[in-house]
Amino acid sequence: MRSLLFSLSLLCFASQTSLSWKKEEFRSCDQTPFCKRARSRAPGTCSLIATDVTISDGDLVAKLTPKDNDDHINPLILSLSVYRNGIVRLRIDEDHSLNPPKKRFRVPDVVVSELEAKKIRLEKFATENDPPSSVVHVGDGYEAVVRHEPFEVYVRERSGRRVLSLNSHGLFDFEQMRKKGEGDNWEEKFRTHTDSRPFGSQSISFDVSFYESSFVYGIPEHATSFALKPTKGPGVEESAEPYRLFNLDVFEYDHESPFGLYGSIPFMVSHGGTGKSSGFFWLNAAEMQIDVFAKGWDGESSSRIDTLWMSEAGIVDTFFFVGPEPKDVVRQYASVTGTSAMPQLFATGYHQCRWNYKDEEDVAQVDSKFDEYDIPYDVLWLDIEHTDGKRYFTWDSALFPNPEEMQKKLGAKGRRMVTIVDPHIKRDDTYFLHKEATEMGYYVKDSSGKDFDGWCWPGSSSYIDMLSPEIREWWGGRFSYKNYVGSTPSLYIWNDMNEPSVFNGPEVTMPRDALHVGGVEHREVHNAYGYYFHMATSDGLVMRGEGKDRPFVLSRAIFPGTQRYGAIWTGDNTAEWEHLRVSIPMLLTLGLTGITFSGADIGGFFGNPEPELLVRWYQVGAYYPFFRGHAHHDTKRREPWLFGERNTELMRDAIHTRYTLLPYFYTLFREANVTGVPVLRPLWMEFPQDEATFSNDEAFMVGNGLLVQGVYTKVIALNSSQEADGELYIDDGKSFEFKRGAYIHRRFVFSNGVLTSTNIAPPEASLSSQCLIDRIILLGHSSGPNSALVEPLNQKAEIEMGPLRMGGLVASSGTRVLTIRKPGVRVDQDWTIKIL
Ligand code: NOJ
Repeated sequence: MRSLLFSLSLLCFASQTSLSWKKEEFRSCDQTPFCKRARSRAPGTCSLIATDVTISDGDLVAKLTPKDNDDHINPLILSLSVYRNGIVRLRIDEDHSLNPPKKRFRVPDVVVSELEAKKIRLEKFATENDPPSSVVHVGDGYEAVVRHEPFEVYVRERSGRRVLSLNSHGLFDFEQMRKKGEGDNWEEKFRTHTDSRPFGSQSISFDVSFYESSFVYGIPEHATSFALKPTKGPGVEESAEPYRLFNLDVFEYDHESPFGLYGSIPFMVSHGGTGKSSGFFWLNAAEMQIDVFAKGWDGESSSRIDTLWMSEAGIVDTFFFVGPEPKDVVRQYASVTGTSAMPQLFATGYHQCRWNYKDEEDVAQVDSKFDEYDIPYDVLWLDIEHTDGKRYFTWDSALFPNPEEMQKKLGAKGRRMVTIVDPHIKRDDTYFLHKEATEMGYYVKDSSGKDFDGWCWPGSSSYIDMLSPEIREWWGGRFSYKNYVGSTPSLYIWNDMNEPSVFNGPEVTMPRDALHVGGVEHREVHNAYGYYFHMATSDGLVMRGEGKDRPFVLSRAIFPGTQRYGAIWTGDNTAEWEHLRVSIPMLLTLGLTGITFSGADIGGFFGNPEPELLVRWYQVGAYYPFFRGHAHHDTKRREPWLFGERNTELMRDAIHTRYTLLPYFYTLFREANVTGVPVLRPLWMEFPQDEATFSNDEAFMVGNGLLVQGVYTKVIALNSSQEADGELYIDDGKSFEFKRGAYIHRRFVFSNGVLTSTNIAPPEASLSSQCLIDRIILLGHSSGPNSALVEPLNQKAEIEMGPLRMGGLVASSGTRVLTIRKPGVRVDQDWTIKIL
C-alpha cells in the first residue's frame, strides 16, 4: 500500500578489496578483433544509402548499398515492422537471393508468437524531401523514419521530437560473409586456443541514440552501478572497457566491472528529466560489446545519450520501444519476449542451500533445526555432491540411499527439495545418459564434427545440443519419475554451469567454432545456450506433472526470454560488504530487463561473512524476489542459528518478515506475470519525474508500496496521507488453473475513513474462498477511533491501537498502528469497513 514506507538498514558498506578475478583468462576488447575494429571506426564512416524503398508483406523494405558501389558490394536488405503499443522492429540481413556463403543465424524461440497478432500491417509510407526520407505511422502519436542518405532509422513523436535513433553517427558496419580464398587465414588465437573461424569476419556494429536522456540502464549481467557509467569520451579513462555481453563462468568476479558475467540481455532502457523512458533491444546471441559515450564525446552538447553496439555475428534484429512511461517500456519489451512465469507459492519463500548438504542425516538435521529455531523455510537444496560421481539424475548410494523417503519426509511438512542438473554429461560408457546421448547424436560437435569433449565437474564431458527442439524434448523426458529414479513430485531443479562452463575451453567456455544442429556455429548461439537448457528443463518438469504443476528451475545463464522459464541468481559472489551492495543494482537491472525472479546468494558464495554482514544480508535479501542462502564447500557452516542468540533472532526476524509479506510478493509476481512490470523496481519507475532518484541504486521499491532504503539506523516511517490503495492476488499457489480463471484479484482502497474491497479480476475469474480476514492493520491512521462498521454484514468490529509488528519485528520508531480485529469479511467478497 502506498502509505506504507519502509526503511531498512544496510549499514556501513566499508570499502574492502575483493578477491581478484583472473582477468588474463578473459579477452579484453583490444584482444577481440571485431570489438577493436568497431571501436576504432570514426563517426561518419558508414557510406550506406537506402534505396528501392517499398512496402512488402506489411513491412517497409529497402536496400542498403554503399553510395558509390565501385566494389559491387551486395546490398543488405532492411525491413521495418510496426506493432501496436509503440514497438518498431528493424531487421537488416544479407540478401538471401544472392546466395551468401552461409545463412546468418536468426535466434528462434525468443520472440513470443503473440507478437504477430499485434503487427500493424503497413500499406503505405509517406515521403519527405528534406532530407529524403520514408515515414510510417507507429500509432499513439509516433512515427518511424528511414532517412535515405546517409541511411539512418529513427522514431520520433509526431511533433518532431526524436525518441531513439540508429546510425545517426554513421558508425553502422556489417561485415558480409565471403568465400574463403587461397591464402586467406581467418584464424584467431587467444592464449593456448585457436578459433578456426571458417566463415571469417561477420561482425555488425552501429550506434544507437537515446534522446532527452539523463541515464541509460540495463544490458545485464554486470556487477556494476544501476545507471550505466560511460565507457568512452570525456572524463573516461582511455583504458576503459565497453560492457561485455558474453555468458561466462567468471571465478571470483569483481564487484565493480563492465565485464560480462553469466548472462546477457541486450536490452537498454533510457530515462530522462522529462520523466520519459525509451528502450532498445537487439535480439542476437553472439558475443556483444556495448559502449556508452559520455555526453560531449562528439563535440556536441546535447541531452542525448549515444551508445555503440557491436556483435561478432548474427543479424540486425532490433526493437525500438517508445515508452513514454518507464512501465510502458518494460511492458513493450515483455510483449516481445514474454512476461515472467507465475512461480509456485513455495518458490517465493526462503530457500536453504549449501555446497553441499552431505547426506540424508545432514538434511534431516538442518530441516529439524529450522523448526527448533522457529525459522520458516520452504526448500532444501542439494548441490553436485549428492550424485554418483557428478552423473546427473543419479544419487550417491552411500550418502543418499533413500532419496524418495528423504523427499517425502520434507514433503510431509510441506517442504520441497531441489537437486542440481548441469548440461555437461560425464563421458562414461557405463552411464545411461551418456550412452543414449551418444547413440542419438545429441551432443554439440567440435569443429571437426566429433562429439565435443571438454572438462567440467565430472572430468571429461560432452554437452547436450539444446538448440534442437527434438533434443530439448528428449531432455525434458529425463525428468519423468520413471527416468529420474529417486525423484518425487516435491523435487525441483537447479540448472548451473549452463553458459556453458568448460574448464579447459577458451575463456572457460565452449570454442566458438564448435557446431550445433543445422551447422550453426557456437559463436552465433553462445549467449542463448543456457536459455535453451533452462527451457528444456522447465518444459520437462511441466511434462512430468502432466501440465498440472508449475515448474521451478533456477538457472545461472540468462538470455531474453529466460523469464518465461524460471528463476535466476547472480552466481558466485563473495562474502563482502561490496558484494551485498552491488546485489541491489544487479537485481534492479535484471528486473528492468524482464528477469524479475532473481536473487543473489545470501551471505556471499565465497568466503566467510562476519556475523553482522550475514545478518544484514538476510535483512536485505528478504526483499530479493528469489531468496536463497548458499555457500561454497570451503566455507564454514552458516545456517542462521550458528551465530549466537541475538544474530539468530535477527535473521529469524528477517525471514519472518519475508513470510509476512508473502501475499504482497505473490500479488506482485502475478502483476509481473500479467504485465512484465518487475517485483523489484527502481525508484524512478514509481516516481518518473523525481530526478534525485535516477542514479540511486541503494534504495528500491518492492511493488509500488514498499520502499527499502540503505540507511544507518532502522526506522519504519509512515507518510501522513490518510489514503491508501493496494491489491491482492490469490490462487492455488501451484497449478496452471489460474490460466483458466481460478484466482482471486482484489483491490483495497482506504479513503475518507472507509476501507473498500472490490473485485478487479475479469468476469471469467471464478475462484471462491471461505478464507476470512483475521485482522487489518492501518498504518498512518490518526488515533482516536475504537470501532468499525462492517458492511454489508452491518456488524461492528473491534479496533485496537498498538505498536507496529512485522513478522516478529516491532518498529523501534514507536510507530503505532490501528488494527481492526476479526472483521469477519471474506477475502473473495466485496465489503466496506468504516472507521467510526
Ligand atoms: C557453481 C555455482 O555457481 C555454485 O552455486 C555451485 O555451488 C557450484 N557451481 C557447484 O555446483
